[in-house]
This record gives sequence, structure tokens and C-alpha cells, in this order.
Amino acid sequence: MGKRWQVEKKKEHYYKTAKKENYRSRASYKLTQLDKKFKIIREGYKVVDLGAAPGGWSQVALEKVGEDGMVLGVDLQKIKPFNEENFVFIRGDFTSPEIQKEIYSAINGKAEVIISDAAPSLSGIKDIDQLRAMDLAENVIKISHNLLQPKGTLLMKTFQGPGYPELLKKLKKEFKMVKTTKPASSRKLSSEMYIIGIGFKGIKWLNEDFDEDE
Ligand SMILES: C[S@@+](CC[C@H](N)C(=O)[O-])C[C@H]1O[C@@H](n2cnc3c(N)ncnc32)[C@H](O)[C@@H]1O
Repeated sequence: MGKRWQVEKKKEHYYKTAKKENYRSRASYKLTQLDKKFKIIREGYKVVDLGAAPGGWSQVALEKVGEDGMVLGVDLQKIKPFNEENFVFIRGDFTSPEIQKEIYSAINGKAEVIISDAAPSLSGIKDIDQLRAMDLAENVIKISHNLLQPKGTLLMKTFQGPGYPELLKKLKKEFKMVKTTKPASSRKLSSEMYIIGIGFKGIKWLNEDFDEDE
């Protein structure tokens, strides 16, 4: 009995490892868990994946949107091509207006969902890294103004620390509902937090809001 249990456990371990190896990154499990909980990506959707490399989230998104949807990934880094024809990759800095225009024309309009697991390059100095993370998060929100459909969903990674409460406050004005969560596969000690903005209120009102801040 004990041996059999051990064999079963081993089998399960290999099964899980094999399954894991089909994914490009451990991060895939985070999106899988987040999507299971919040039902973010549906069949037929257009999804923009900001900070997509090496492609773990895009891979999960492709599974969810199916053949009728599309996934567009953007990253500073190269990404190994996908076989799926409904995956488009743009290499570049998504904070640049040129890249944003490229995304807009590649998805032929706006996306139902924007996902961002983007993280800034780290200096090792806590305060500077937090500032960089907040700046990147602000950029993700600004991009949503141009690329997210009204009623759309934004899922973004950010880090708790200075600037985080203000970021949440801003998002609460822009989305009907805002949830924060840490998927089980996220390291407990890390300050990373995932924010889900559901029901994007729309572009006009938002741009006015942002002009005031700038
Ligand atoms: C944690 S990784 C993303 C992992 C990905 N979700 C996955 O599942 O494979 C963060 C990525 O964000 C990218 N990134 C950070 N800032 C960026 C920017 N301004 N423009 C494009 N990509 C950016 C980095 O190059 C890095 O590849």
C-alpha cells in the first residue's frame, strides 16, 4: 500500500512536471489561477499582454481565447515564436506612443482585456525600484485609456509600497469594480500584488481625469 502510494505520488509529480514544462514560465500558473477566480479571458476575446516574455501568460491567454480570438504580446525582450497564427508579437517599449500605435493597428481597434505582468529592471535599491514599479503601473493604466474597450478588464501586476494606495484609488475611479489578489503561486514574502479592474468606464472621462494629474 505504502509503495503504491509512493508510485502514484511519483507519477503525479512527473505528470505535473511534464505539464509544467509545456508552459514557458512558472508565471503561467499565476494567470491560470487568476483567471479561474475572476473569469478574465473568454473565448473570442482580443487580449493584449504587456511585458509578455518569455510568453507564459500569452500561452494561457491563447488557450482561453481559442481560434476566434487573438493575443498580442509586447516586450523589450525577444520571444520564441508561437505556432498559433492568432498570436502577434511586437518587440519594443510599450510605454512609447509609437509602440502603442503599432498595438492599436495590429489588434484593429481595442482589446477586451489587457494583462500586464510587466516588472521594471531592478536596481536593488528598494525606494528606487518601488518608484520604477509605480511609474510602470501608471503607464499600464494610461495605455488602457487608448487600447481597452469600454467595459473591458485590466489585470496588472504591481508592488505594495509607497504609491500603491494612490494607484488603487485611481483605478477605483476608472473601473466599476477593482479587486486585489495574490495568487497561490505567488511567493508569500514578495510584495507583488495583482490588481483586476473590471468594467472600464471609458476613454473620454478618463483622459480628462489624467490631464489633471499631468
Ligand atoms: C515577469 S516578466 C513577464 C513574464 C510573463 N508574464 C510570462 O508569463 O512569461 C516581465 C517582463 O516585462 C518586460 N517589460 C518591462 N518593462 C517593459 C516595457 N516598458 N516594455 C515592454 N516590456 C517590458 C520585461 O522585459 C520582462 O520580460
